[in-house]
Amino acid sequence: MDTVRFFDTTLRDGEQSPGFSMTREEKLALASKLEALGVDVIEAGFPVASAGELEAVRAVAAAIRGTRVAALARARREDVEAALMALEPAAMPRLHVFLATSDLHLQAKLRMTRREALEAIGRWVRHGKERCAEVEFSAEDASRSDIRFLLEAMETAAEAGATILNLPDTVGFSTPEEYGAMFHRVRGHLGRSEEIILSAHCHNDLGLAVANSLAAVRAGARQVECTINGIGERAGNASLEELAVALAVRQSFFGVQTNIRLEEIYSASRALCDVTGISVPPNKAVVGANAFAHEAGIHQDGILKNPLTYEIIRPEAVGVPSRRMVVGKHSGRNALRTRFTELGYTVSDAELAQCYRAAMELADAAKEITDRDLLTLIHHARRQNRHAETSVDATVAMGEA
Ligand code: KIV
Ligand code: ZN
Repeated sequence: MDTVRFFDTTLRDGEQSPGFSMTREEKLALASKLEALGVDVIEAGFPVASAGELEAVRAVAAAIRGTRVAALARARREDVEAALMALEPAAMPRLHVFLATSDLHLQAKLRMTRREALEAIGRWVRHGKERCAEVEFSAEDASRSDIRFLLEAMETAAEAGATILNLPDTVGFSTPEEYGAMFHRVRGHLGRSEEIILSAHCHNDLGLAVANSLAAVRAGARQVECTINGIGERAGNASLEELAVALAVRQSFFGVQTNIRLEEIYSASRALCDVTGISVPPNKAVVGANAFAHEAGIHQDGILKNPLTYEIIRPEAVGVPSRRMVVGKHSGRNALRTRFTELGYTVSDAELAQCYRAAMELADAAKEITDRDLLTLIHHARRQNRHAETSVDATVAMGEA
């Protein structure tokens, strides 16, 4: 079975988005989390951006020994030199050179002709390859590029020594069919050369980053570029946890394996939230607070009988401590009894009926019922029942007297 490599760009594309900037120490802490997670490549940053950024990438390159470390560079001298300097201490370095190939970017942003672009790609990939064992080339805005020119650019980069060719959907414009078709075209053009790995890099502007990356895998991509929690420019990059879990849960469909240790996913996601102070929305797939929470009575009943009824991922498989049975206005008695048992209370049918009635009244007023509320309900019910028993005893005693 083929392996799809995970190229994590949380520390570069992720860090570029507002609110996610990281210090050297934060990058180091996250890099070791990424290594524990089993990613194949950690893109540590964009060294030419600043002296501090170069230092941070260099520190990650020095610290990470078992995972490849990449540094990004535009196809120009100062970028490539800064990236090479940052990668010097790396055990397994990868230089990542990029240049836009769409006419829009070439004309409006770079003011370059296509010929100049091909020259720059060839020159800076070749230069990088002389000093770094592995070079990746990215054709920025590939999905909006003229396909014939894109093929020329890919050929030029491969001839200059790039062994990983990345086809970014830089502005999240593509659809799965289109994106997959582009990979088929490029693969067909380059032939079945085993040395060249095609890579997907998708942004989420239309909410299609993960779907597009998976379409690329179906079309032969063997590297996916992604970030923890899907952070990244604008609407973000393809989310690592969603890709890894999709490839695992639907392995028989995709027919590939990965090196990701799924059980480390939740902890990596939490680590990023801790570092940045930005949490994920509750409904975020795989790592959101509600990803394994159930409130509806019908669902809770199903889950308690067999979790497969409403869960396609086992929470513990992705390192989530446990599923959450939320007691709210949609909950059923079965879930309420289970929660009481988990809290250490074996409740009788009568107590359950009392607490259930009270819980539903409370749920109409509050959004969610907490464990503390449940403890109050059961204590209250038991006190009421004790009082009722005492007064029955007293009445009987008075009757006997
Ligand atoms: O989105 C993009 O095109 C990029 C490249 C620099 C790889 O991030
Ligand atoms: Zn990007």
